[in-house]
This record gives sequence, structure tokens and C-alpha cells, in this order.
Amino acid sequence: MCGIIGILGKNDVAPSILAGLKRLEYRGYDSAGVATVMTGQLDRRRAPGKLSALEAVMEERPLGGPTGIGHTRWATHGAPTKTNAHPHATERVSVVHNGIIENFAELRQELIDNGAVFESETDAEVCPQLITHYLETQNCAPAEAFHNAIKRMRGAFAFAAIFSGEDDLMICARKGSPLAIGHGDGEMYLGSDAYALAPFTNRITYLDEGDWAVIRRAGVDIFDNGGKKVLRPETISSASAGIVEKDGHRHFMAKEIHEQPEVVAHTISRYVDPVSKTIKLPDGAFDFAALDRLTISACGTAFYAGQISKYWFERWAKLPVEVDIASELRYRDVPYTPNGGALFISQSGETADTLAALRDAKSYGQKIAAVINVPESSIARESDIIFPIAAGPEVGVASTKAFTCQLVALACIAIAAGRARGILTLQDEIEIVGALLETPRKLSEALKASGSIEKIAHDIAKAEDILYIGRGVSYPLAMEGALKLKEISYIHAEGYAAGELKHGPIALIDENLPVVVIAPLDAHFEKTVSNMQELMARGGKALLMSCKKGLQQAGDGIWTSIEIPETDNMLAPIVYAVPIQLLAYFTATTKGTDVDQPRNLAKSVTVE
Ligand code: AGP
Repeated sequence: MCGIIGILGKNDVAPSILAGLKRLEYRGYDSAGVATVMTGQLDRRRAPGKLSALEAVMEERPLGGPTGIGHTRWATHGAPTKTNAHPHATERVSVVHNGIIENFAELRQELIDNGAVFESETDAEVCPQLITHYLETQNCAPAEAFHNAIKRMRGAFAFAAIFSGEDDLMICARKGSPLAIGHGDGEMYLGSDAYALAPFTNRITYLDEGDWAVIRRAGVDIFDNGGKKVLRPETISSASAGIVEKDGHRHFMAKEIHEQPEVVAHTISRYVDPVSKTIKLPDGAFDFAALDRLTISACGTAFYAGQISKYWFERWAKLPVEVDIASELRYRDVPYTPNGGALFISQSGETADTLAALRDAKSYGQKIAAVINVPESSIARESDIIFPIAAGPEVGVASTKAFTCQLVALACIAIAAGRARGILTLQDEIEIVGALLETPRKLSEALKASGSIEKIAHDIAKAEDILYIGRGVSYPLAMEGALKLKEISYIHAEGYAAGELKHGPIALIDENLPVVVIAPLDAHFEKTVSNMQELMARGGKALLMSCKKGLQQAGDGIWTSIEIPETDNMLAPIVYAVPIQLLAYFTATTKGTDVDQPRNLAKSVTVE
């Protein structure tokens, strides 16, 4: 994940910016840069590789000035070169960016048509160019130009900008990727998280979703998306030497749920070329055209991600897929085929059951791939191909952001398989990838239901048993929802195929058993709603999760509902994961359980 630092200081800020960037190294990066304003003049230093390379450049050519921004970049659009490293700049403005700008291609073309000259392959460079466009063609003041520019950009991102001629100005925006503002003594700071600012201050103001801020040494003015001035509380951060902090959230799980727009954007950027809207898999991936069978295996939440991906591989690639939990797969006599492949999914990359199943599949000559969050883990090291996710460190025992990032990587692999097997046309790929590029923004929108979900959780917390039901890609998500709830709130929950209710489980239904009905407005919606009506007819309490239109079509009598942003139906689990996670989280906080370290559980199960 990229990292952002900004400082309005009393003296030259470049060394402090470097110190702040060092505290963001845990997020992963492969190039870095710093820009400053000195006596009104913008200047910058950038370098590929680690911060030591940037330090060497700055030792050779020091960078002065009391106003500056810095960035650690994880290569997404465009290789980790100096040209693609941030800050990106024009003569007038220098910008650092974190996240994804969905519509950058059309903005870039519009600006080029107006005479702009781009130097990099990145989406980020659109921002300084667009701000400059407003500065020069509409004679806007910096804040107005910045606000006009971010209003044009769609996606999930965070920005920080400094301006030539402005020694006491830094402007930033948060739209899906977090930003923290630090209050110093005559100095002001900006960072991707409070941990990065800990050496400078513990007085932190967190921007809310959609906020943008004009920062001067005397203080900060914060505005909402519409440009209305808003107040955000100044808090005292507990950030210290600990490598990863909660950034103002009560629990790591809450922080990680809210990081999803940012880390999903980063994972998408690992696989998607946003200009051509096509998938680029790591070299040496499977020869999907020749593959006659794909075995997918994992444990827990990762297994449910694999189950969801089965629908994608079948729909988009017509590829025979079998998904099994690793602790079962390794003891079966699996009829592996000579041209078969095996794909293992693991956040930690150390899960003993998954590693054992991998070794078993390898012994049958299967080509081994892994969707992994820890590239140097055991499972990664023993795989022929690695498909990385960019979730960043996941501390909460209940897996959240890793799940949605796994889904993104699996969707990209399935799309690439579909193209390689001649099932998907280029136009099909562009359409599906276009929908995928919108998921970070949809995740941001889904997080806005947090308040209403917390209220529902107060009732859910009183239940002793809960059912989750869904059809199609929502069926494995129902099982994931049940797992999330039971592992952190200790309430018994089961995920079931909605169509199976009438084959037995409906005997459980009464007014004390809430049923969470996951029903995107897809081909299964009507049938799922009729399953819901069957249980309501027997006194069951239905909690319906659907988009606005789905809730309207579902009719009356529903106990309660959660509105989800409209999404692409096949990709719905990526967005519907958020209410699933928040419902479990708030139920657990209502019950007062240990959300981040639930009883009996370990983050990485390294025993069989
Ligand atoms: C998920 O919330 C659980 N913590 C657990 O099921 C987890 O998904 C499982 O142990 C697999 O872990 P891994 O992804 O690190 O292999």
C-alpha cells in the first residue's frame, strides 16, 4: 500500500518527511519521493527502490524548504521507475496520491487534448495536471482548483498537494483511503496513519470519508464533499512504536474493515491495466487453455473466497473447478489429472492444513498456485505461482480485508482464464473489469451503513441462533457471514443455501431466530425472496440485505433490512462482505467479546 506524509514546518522538512516515510515502510513499496516549496519554488527528488536510494539522491542534491510532501509507492499502473514515482508535478503544483482513479483515462485524454504533457504511466499524474488546468484556465485559487479537480475524479483515493508560491499551504483529500492530520506547535502534519505522525505529534484529526482540508501552520479548515465547512474532533492518538496502529478505531478489525476501499484498490491495481481495462497476471501463471481441472483449497474465510470463485471460473472460463477445505482435501484420493492445477488461498500463508494439502497436490504433479497476503510465507515459497493481494498486515483474528482482496485476485484470475480459454471476448473482459474498478468506491458507500447496522446488531446480539441464507455467489457469502458472527460474538450461526431451507432447516424457524437473507438483485432474487417469505410465514425474523430496488421489490413484513449500493451481480460478494463484517463486529461489541482476539482462536493456525 502507498504511504503519504506532509509537513508544514519551521525549518527544512525533507529529513522529517523521510523519517515519516520510514514509519510507513510496513505498508510495502518499491519507489519513493519528496517534494518541497522553498521561497515559493517547487522542487522534488524521486528514486526507485527503497528509501535508502532516495536518501542517497537527497544527500547528493539536498532539498530545502519548510513545506513538503513525501510518498512511498507500490507500483500499480506503471513500473516502479523514477518517472512513475510520486510526487507528480507541474510547474504550479506537486501531488502525492494513494488509491485508484477509476476515470483517469478519460481525464488524461481531456487534459492532453487541452495541451497537457504527461511524463508518467500513472493515474496519479492526472491530479496535478487537473489542478493546474483550473489554476490556469479559470484563474482559481489553489483550494478552489483542488476542489474542482477532486470533484471530477471517481474512485477511492487520498491526495496531498503543495503549490508554487505558497510556503504556508498544504491541501489534502480523503475519498476511500484514510488520512490523518497532525497538530504541532506552530507546525502541521499529514499522514496515511497516526503511526507515521507519532514522532511529530499525537494530536490527530482524522478526515471522514469525502472530506478535504486546507492546512496552514495556524491550523486546518475541513470541508465535506459539497464544500461545506465541517468540524472533525482533534483526538490524542495512542500511536507509538507499535508497528501497526488502530488509527482511531476501537479495534483492529474495525480499522481493517474500513481499510477495504484502499486495499481492494491496491489489489485491483496489481492485476488491472486501467487504460485498456484488461487483466495482466504475474508471469508464469497457469496455461488456462490447456488446464482441464482446477482444484481450489483453503480454510475458513479463505475457503469461502474459493467457493465464490468457483462460480466465476465456471461462468467466465467454463473451467471445471472443485473446491474443498484443506483439512479434507489432503486425505481424499483426489483424481488429479495430468493437466490439472491446484490453487491455494491463505492470508497468513502459514496455515498448516492448507500447506499440507498443497504438498499433497504437488506430490501428484499438480502445478501449484497461491493467492497470498504474505509473499515470504511458507505457502508462497512452496508454490510455483504466487498471486499476491495487497491487504497489508491483517491483525484482527477475524479475516475481513484479506477476504475482499482474495476475492478481487480470484476474480482477476478467473477473467484471465476466461480470455485464455476463448470464453470471454475482449469486450466481456473490459465490461467485467470496469465493474471491478468500481468496487473500491462501492465499498466506501457500503461502509456508510455502519450506523444502521450497529442498531440492528443490538437486536442480533440477543439471539442464540442465527441463519444466513443466499443463492449462487451469495451462498458461500452466507457461510462466511455465519463464520464471522460465530467466531467473534460466540453466537451459533449457520450459512445455508436459500433453496435448502425447505429441506429441513425451516423446522428451526420461529420468532426467536433471525435469518440474514443475502439477496442482490440478480437472477436468484425472486426465488430467494420467496424463500424469505416461506420463513416469514412461520414467524421467522428476516434481515434482508439488498440494493434499494431489491428492498422495494421484496415487499412488506420484513423484520429489518440493510441497503447495499447497486453492484455488478457476479461481483456482489466483494461489496456485500462489508455489511456482513459490520454486523458481526457490532454484535460482538454489543456482547463485549474480545473482537480482535476471540477466545480459542489464533490468527494463523499453524497446527493441524
Ligand atoms: C477467518 O475469520 C478465520 N480467522 C479463519 O477461518 C481463517 O480464515 C483461516 O484460519 C485461514 O487462515 P489463512 O487465510 O491465514 O490461511
